[in-house]
Amino acid sequence: MCGIFGYVGRPVDAADMVLTALRRLEYRGYDSWGVCIGVNGHCEIAKSVGKIGDAVLDLPDSGIGFGHTRWATHGGVTRENAHPIRDASGRLAIIHNGIIENFRPLKASLLTAGYHFVSETDTEVAVHLVARYLGDGADAVHVRRATASAFSDLRGLNAIIILDQVTQTLTAVKKVSPLVIGRGPGGVFIASDALALAPHCSEVCYLEDGYIAQLSEAGVGLYRADTDAPVTPTWERLLIDHRAVELGGYPHFMLKEMSEQPEVIERISRDGIEQARQLAALIRESYGAFFLGCGTASYAALTGAYLFSRIARRHVNFVVGSEFMYQEHFLTNRSLVIALSQSGETADVIEPVLAAKQRGARIAALVNVRGSTLDRIADFSLYLNAGPEQCVLSTKAYTAKVANLLLTAHILNGSEHVGRDLLWRAVDGVRSVLTPNFSNAVLAVAERFKHQRSLFVVGRGLSYPTALEAALKIKEVSYIHAEGFAGGELKHGVIALIEEGTPCLVYSPLDETRADILSGAMEMKARGGFIVGISPEEDAVFDVHLPIPDVGDAAPLVMAPPAQMLGYQLALLRGYDPDKPRNLAKSVTVK
Ligand code: G6P
Repeated sequence: MCGIFGYVGRPVDAADMVLTALRRLEYRGYDSWGVCIGVNGHCEIAKSVGKIGDAVLDLPDSGIGFGHTRWATHGGVTRENAHPIRDASGRLAIIHNGIIENFRPLKASLLTAGYHFVSETDTEVAVHLVARYLGDGADAVHVRRATASAFSDLRGLNAIIILDQVTQTLTAVKKVSPLVIGRGPGGVFIASDALALAPHCSEVCYLEDGYIAQLSEAGVGLYRADTDAPVTPTWERLLIDHRAVELGGYPHFMLKEMSEQPEVIERISRDGIEQARQLAALIRESYGAFFLGCGTASYAALTGAYLFSRIARRHVNFVVGSEFMYQEHFLTNRSLVIALSQSGETADVIEPVLAAKQRGARIAALVNVRGSTLDRIADFSLYLNAGPEQCVLSTKAYTAKVANLLLTAHILNGSEHVGRDLLWRAVDGVRSVLTPNFSNAVLAVAERFKHQRSLFVVGRGLSYPTALEAALKIKEVSYIHAEGFAGGELKHGVIALIEEGTPCLVYSPLDETRADILSGAMEMKARGGFIVGISPEEDAVFDVHLPIPDVGDAAPLVMAPPAQMLGYQLALLRGYDPDKPRNLAKSVTVK
């Protein structure tokens, strides 16, 4: 989490450039933000709590600057805790992503040595450490060595950048937490995400663990962090079209990205076959395959487990990313770990993947962001090709994961053409639930539910993971407590919560689950539940029927968008920003 952007080049309105880039990175965190530029021998800092919004900075031109959007970990959301943070002399400033796990003993020793702290953050420890190692060191080599020494004292997965206004350099070092360097006609740049570099750079270089980069007016220097030996950077073309990250006439990224789902599925059915074949081959060769992912990606993975069992008659285990470490003992060098992640940066995915790799397991990734940490760790990456996803809530990347897994399951089963046909049916199916008529029907449901405190979503079989995903979508954007559960579990506890008017969404595709799911709906209705049926066919138990097309085993693809739309409408009716829900971040790079 936390967005990072830095620039060194000819003097420009660096503060404005940094602020504009930070807006693009805000999905990584938006508790507070800050910008620092080097002017006339000192660090000028502007910071504020909250989202960047329309903020304008009135700072002089500068050839060096950096900034940060924060998702608070250590220390409350206050101006003092926002980054950048200066050292005592004001010569250095730091921005940081990660958690310094040993910050308490480090802070204690710095306090004993007389250092004064102005924030509650773990970050401040790092800038004082750099200052302590630097002493009176006057040139860029000293700054680099001091930064490398300080970084080697830190435990955890961190990325730090030090701005030194004496040498006019940005010095960057990292462990797992990503940093990307870019170069373009205006100068050299560094960011936590290549997306922010797109308007400025045509070439990028991913900073690897164990190396330290120094950006100056002369360009980019890359060195081994332990020996300071110079290394030649490897530059690659940056393939992101920065226009793809604009709203393009939509009021919110969430609506834009939901609307792109038909074309995402269409692209997979057309261009995704070869990648799916390669994934199928890896699964076939493996002896024990495991899906892992977090949040929405975990529900796509669970859907995959159902699809593989049903279509390919193959058991693929499913484990939530953060729980994987407690269940990894059975991994061998014949195991295959299939990690799903839109960003490719989720710490709770990266950590188990690294552990699995150490045990000799092969790693396959279903990932949207090329060049991300997961992409670079994986032995094989299946790219989702969903285009940049900017709303904190994942919509089109979820669809892309499920579509790829459906296709892969059919390839494993020897029925590739059936998989492709299903995807084509899903393209039309998803279009039909994105029409204004359908949205209006969902809006009427949202109007009815907008003041409710709780809502339940039920599914069985293939629609069970969809129910979990639907509940997640609704709760994260509308802040209504929403709970998804397997229809059969109703009588094992949840039914105690159903009372007069309780909203109940019921997924009822035309498969073997229909009779049981409808009888569960009857039981909820008998206790006062208000039943919204999401189903190809009407039924007397539904108080409201949201009609979806029957698309066979592609049902998860058409069942998710109505819940996305309901969440979106509820957020708007309740006055919330659907793109940046409170307390969340899109790229969760801390544990
Ligand atoms: C965060 C986001 C979710 C996302 C999850 C996993 O929690 O808010 O929308 O599903 O991370 O993200 P990933 O990038 O790994 O798919």
